[in-house]
Amino acid sequence: MRRLMRLAAIVGLGSAIFACEKSAPVGSTTLPTKQVVVGFSQIGAESGWRAAETGSVLAEAKKRGVQLKFADGQGKQANQVQAIEQFVAQNVDAIILAPVVGTGWDAPLAKAKRAGIPVVLIDRAVETDPANYATLIQSDHVEAGRAVARWLIEKTGGKAVVVQLEGTVGSGPAIDRKKGFEEVIATAPGVTILRSQSGDFKKVTGKQVMEGIIRAEKGAFTAVYAHNDDMALGAIQALQEAGLSPGEKVLVMSIDGGREAFEAMVAGTLNCVMECNPLLGPAAFDAIEAIRAGAPVPKSISQTDRLFDRSQAAAELPGRAY
Ligand code: AHR
Repeated sequence: MRRLMRLAAIVGLGSAIFACEKSAPVGSTTLPTKQVVVGFSQIGAESGWRAAETGSVLAEAKKRGVQLKFADGQGKQANQVQAIEQFVAQNVDAIILAPVVGTGWDAPLAKAKRAGIPVVLIDRAVETDPANYATLIQSDHVEAGRAVARWLIEKTGGKAVVVQLEGTVGSGPAIDRKKGFEEVIATAPGVTILRSQSGDFKKVTGKQVMEGIIRAEKGAFTAVYAHNDDMALGAIQALQEAGLSPGEKVLVMSIDGGREAFEAMVAGTLNCVMECNPLLGPAAFDAIEAIRAGAPVPKSISQTDRLFDRSQAAAELPGRAY
């Protein structure tokens, strides 16, 4: 069976493996093997992107006949740590973890490792000994920040006063998207950051933060860079209510590339968006299958994303998968 699984993973028949493990053919002499059980510790439901990622993991588990134990961290690392400890106690076959922040994972991850349970990290990196996890599947968040900054410099001829709405404090994407953006605008002396504040990747918080900045700064900025779609959409509402015509008077840029962002580009209120693919279920289960089959799995698996602006939005919208 182990050899069969390894062969199937190598030749790309991974999806069949879980089905095969679930039920042996009638009359077969093969002993039925136990259903694969995977624990999934999700951050919460702070954004539309997060909901799409949860849906992707759930759907893929179902498709492959995997029993999925889902734990909603409700935005709190302590809940996620507790979930990992429970998964270890339940002796699951693998753990998928989308970590809310980047630090503080040494102990729970080492515990999973000692128990021989592979951990697949999705969408956010952690600072720990890489031996503590099997692989990390994510977008290149630094490059996303760079791409948005390059777009802004090109669009404005290198002259802009920016408000940056950062993601959750201490999270990998917030750190990286800020780093990439600031690295590139440092090459354009005419682009400055007026304010940079966290909106926690949430629409409602993005709107509140933007309202506060509008009150304090009036119209002293020309662009808003939001680390995700939800905060950009919240900021757009705040700008509209203040009569600051987002998309025209104030350029708005975001990361994620969900359907709502494309609708906003078609409506003219959002100027550009950098994709960040949340549909990580297939890649996560491919990795788990490979690990279980003893096949080599790269420590880091990067997604390929593209930047879109308003000129491409209407054509792209109907085909958006999230
Ligand atoms: O970790 C990915 C980020 O988390 C997405 O950009 C954001 O929308 C989500 O909440």
